[in-house]
Amino acid sequence: GDNVLYLAHRHEIDIEGACEASLACTTCHVYVHHDYVDKLSTPDEREEDLLDLAPFLKENSRLGCQII
Ligand code: FES
Repeated sequence: GDNVLYLAHRHEIDIEGACEASLACTTCHVYVHHDYVDKLSTPDEREEDLLDLAPFLKENSRLGCQII
């Protein structure tokens, strides 16, 4: 399905996605604009665990491939 990672690629925005959305990397790390953070479904535990490993983690960090 469509997630932010694939949407970005379709619009030629170069976000990495090393594991192709299988929740095995943090290369799709993005910062969500504050206006939209609360509109997204909350990250599940597997995403949270991976985010904890992401460099430069912020409170609006998400894994792009998990935003649908
Ligand atoms: Fe690897 Fe998103 S592309 S977790």
